[in-house]
Amino acid sequence: MRGGGFILAAAALLALSACEIKDTSGGSSGEPSAGAAGPPPMPQPVTLADRPEAEAGERLYVEHCIMCHGDVGMGTGLLARRLQVPLLEARGDLTADYVIQAARMGIGNMPQIPRGEVSDEELEQIADYLAAGPHPAGQMPAAAPAEGEAQ
Ligand code: HEC
Repeated sequence: MRGGGFILAAAALLALSACEIKDTSGGSSGEPSAGAAGPPPMPQPVTLADRPEAEAGERLYVEHCIMCHGDVGMGTGLLARRLQVPLLEARGDLTADYVIQAARMGIGNMPQIPRGEVSDEELEQIADYLAAGPHPAGQMPAAAPAEGEAQ
């Protein structure tokens, strides 16, 4: 009895899935398979959870800067127009002073970062972290192959 029930259920499932297959193939006959490809998946934002080893400067950078200076951030996008290495973390040519000035004065399309948001002490830690680069955490994944050693 139990076995028979199982077989029946299995047969029903098979029939169902057969229907589904038939449905999709029938449905897509009219339209070009636009829905099938779909948009590319949203890139995942970098959060502190991705950098469990991060020390103070890096943590602060992830908290306050990486939303614009991550792989797909607008800072990275705009810097890519004029720099070989658009990711701040991947650079070896940043000085702490330059980073602090850019953050406090704003630069180009980057807004000023006020002290209420990032204190002087915090900004110094971020600046020291960036000045100590390049950091392996800042390497582009697959998207932009080797910006190389260009600095
Ligand atoms: C709202 C987005 C945004 C945030 C947040 C942000 N930036 Fe920027 N940043 C930009 C953009 C956009 C540029 C490119 C400016 C341009 O060239 O027009 C930029 C440029 C820079 C540059 C200049 C790089 C160069 O070589 O000229 C530095 C340094 C920098 N950002 C540091 C930081 C730091 C440090 C933080 C965090 C405290 C931070 N940014 C947060 C958007 C942002």
